[in-house]
Amino acid sequence: MKGADLRALREARGQNQVDLAHWLNDQMGRRYDKQRISKWENDSERIPQAVATFLRQHAPGPEPTAGPAYIACVTNQKGGVGKSVTAVNTATVLARLGYKTLLIDGDPQANATMHLGIDAYALEEMGKTLNYAFAGSASLADIVVTIPESGLHVAPSCIRLAETEVQLMLDPAGAHALKEILAAVQKDYDFILLDTPPNIGQLTINALTASHGALVPCQTERFSVVGMRFLFSNIDKIRRRTNPGLSVLGILPSMYQARQVNDRKTLQQIHEEYSGLITVFPPIPKIAVYAQATTIGKALMDAAPDSPGAAVYNTIATALIHERTNRLEPAHVA
Ligand SMILES: Nc1ncnc2c1ncn2[C@@H]1O[C@H](COP(=O)(O)OP(=O)(O)OP(=O)(O)O)[C@@H](O)[C@H]1O
Ligand SMILES: [Mg+2]
Repeated sequence: MKGADLRALREARGQNQVDLAHWLNDQMGRRYDKQRISKWENDSERIPQAVATFLRQHAPGPEPTAGPAYIACVTNQKGGVGKSVTAVNTATVLARLGYKTLLIDGDPQANATMHLGIDAYALEEMGKTLNYAFAGSASLADIVVTIPESGLHVAPSCIRLAETEVQLMLDPAGAHALKEILAAVQKDYDFILLDTPPNIGQLTINALTASHGALVPCQTERFSVVGMRFLFSNIDKIRRRTNPGLSVLGILPSMYQARQVNDRKTLQQIHEEYSGLITVFPPIPKIAVYAQATTIGKALMDAAPDSPGAAVYNTIATALIHERTNRLEPAHVA
């Protein structure tokens, strides 16, 4: 466990460093103090394995709140930039922190579904994938699968969701279909995260229309940055036409190779263009463990949460928790 993970867990529990030290001392019979917690959080002293294990097992600490859900989509019309990996891992962190979290796989490619080891084809045959919820023949509750490691709920996708996209085009109020489906479960969850396909079609429009905020992974290569301007102009259109409250939660530079000059230049360009306007999260490095996690059917944050860069998902989760508090105080609940 890295210092940033500890800080995210502590903040999610609403504790200051003194509170955390007292809690650990009570629970583990130790004599830690604020200074020690601070050293752990700054990575100037290694977090003892026993503390890391204890925190992972017991720290999921917020009071169960159960809704109304803050809804965030992970989107970029560019393909292969890390949308599904970001959606899966951010949702997993929130679930592990104890928030009731639903991940909706809104992409017919079903990559998030398969990434979590769920058999999309078997569920499709049983009528338990998202296209059936759009068709009205199943509710979200009917199709939800629970991930044992984290408690995350997943609404799985399958290739037939591509047919839903065509039907949504023919529906005069098609942009609002997902929002209507989510309204039925919004009270049951703290967070709903939506993965989206690599295009600006009806499924993406539905996700942007249903969301409070959009998180934008962007690969640190030149064409991705060019495409991001197109994405932001479309987000502006969505704000004007279907969802005035939509905010941009931040840009997540992804698959970053610090040794590559082009990656460094692109990251700098992202900061020059957007810092001060939009949150730019620290970059996720390009390393094999992220791709390996997809092949073993587990979220990286379940399989190898200490991997380089993985703490960034804690940072994003913390940002979402703050955003939820700000947006969904009783006065703001629709
Ligand atoms: N940080 C990373 N390092 C190395 N490989 C990664 C990393 N993040 C994602 N990948 C791999 O890159 C590929 C694309 O990632 P992912 O599926 O998350 O992108 P996507 O934007 O959802 O793609 P699509 O647009 O097709 O839906 C996957 O094979 C994934 O395993
Ligand atoms: Mg994807």
